[in-house]
Amino acid sequence: MCEKIAAGILGTGSYLPEKILTNFDLEKMVDTSDEWITTRTGIKERRIVDPSQATSDLATEASKRALEDANLKPEDLDMIIVATVTPDMNFPSTACIVQANLGALNAAAFDISVGCSGFIYGLAIAQQFVETGMYRNVLVIGAETLSKIINWKDRNTCVLFGDGAGAAVVGRVESGYGILGSYLGADGTGGKYLYMPAGGSRMPASHETVEKNLHTIFMEGQEVFKFAVKVMDSATIEVLERCGLTPEDIDMLIPHQANTRIIEAARKRLKLTNDKVYINLDKYGNTSAASVAIALDEAYRKGLIKKGDIILTVAFGAGLTWASSVIKWSK
Ligand code: UT7
Repeated sequence: MCEKIAAGILGTGSYLPEKILTNFDLEKMVDTSDEWITTRTGIKERRIVDPSQATSDLATEASKRALEDANLKPEDLDMIIVATVTPDMNFPSTACIVQANLGALNAAAFDISVGCSGFIYGLAIAQQFVETGMYRNVLVIGAETLSKIINWKDRNTCVLFGDGAGAAVVGRVESGYGILGSYLGADGTGGKYLYMPAGGSRMPASHETVEKNLHTIFMEGQEVFKFAVKVMDSATIEVLERCGLTPEDIDMLIPHQANTRIIEAARKRLKLTNDKVYINLDKYGNTSAASVAIALDEAYRKGLIKKGDIILTVAFGAGLTWASSVIKWSK
């Protein structure tokens, strides 16, 4: 009998734009303060793309780093998945643009729109293709240029988000290692709490939509906050149970970087010490689909993750959606 193929992460990479926008910079733009932003969110600064850069540019850089780390060439890729809510354009997909940029012409390519849960959804999709033997190497990217869809006059949202990209190559790993399980979910009835009204078929772009700023993020922060605390709890417990593990088995929690208060609630619920939770939202803010990917890459490159470690990832976002996965690190 053939041994089951294990799918895991062969390499990671990330890319952050150089320009830094601090809370003090924002104080000059809207009625806010460093004190409010820091205590309510934990964010101190975020990265903002150059106007000439699009999401695919960030995604391509992060992908090159992930491929290098995995010791693979672009032509070794069988599939490219880009998770984003800020694609370069409605079509073609940002994944197809990245495929062309990389010269990964053997790869199928498509985008997924899952809000901040997108990277973990992408990992789970990649896992299926690798485990069935259909594909060998799948590139999963979370990339966003949220600064392009922010209403810079809305203090409720403009202080929260940042730009960036993270990537991982999913492929065959040693048996017993890799992605041990995932839990994906959605509740579309909550879609109204976090969305961009215009630019799609419901409300195509017009002078009026532009004048009313409808091509920007609308969010009911408190509703998303309540949802986030609830699903960070249920999604972590559920995926651990599916893998036959308990919170004591976790070596590193890589949570979606939206708000330190949300992360802190999850940390306490799982009874984890601070050193077992990776946080970088003070530097980058909420980078949506890129957030878990960037955090994973940073934690790994800093040497905080080693072979055999149990990594728990968890995220929530627009949709509303949630996702979690357990990875036994194989590198
Ligand atoms: O990845 C998913 C994306 N979304 C999220 O993760 C968002 C989840 N939600 C949150 O993180 C929090 O709800 C926020 C950080 C967005 C807001 O924190 P909050 O503790 O829920 O504050 P609030 O919305 O209840 O607002 C409290 C006060 C309000 O003033 P009043 O009505 O009490 O006078 C707001 O107008 O804070 C005011 N406020 C601000 N003040 C200074 C809202 N934004 C700001 C601001 N600076 N930037």
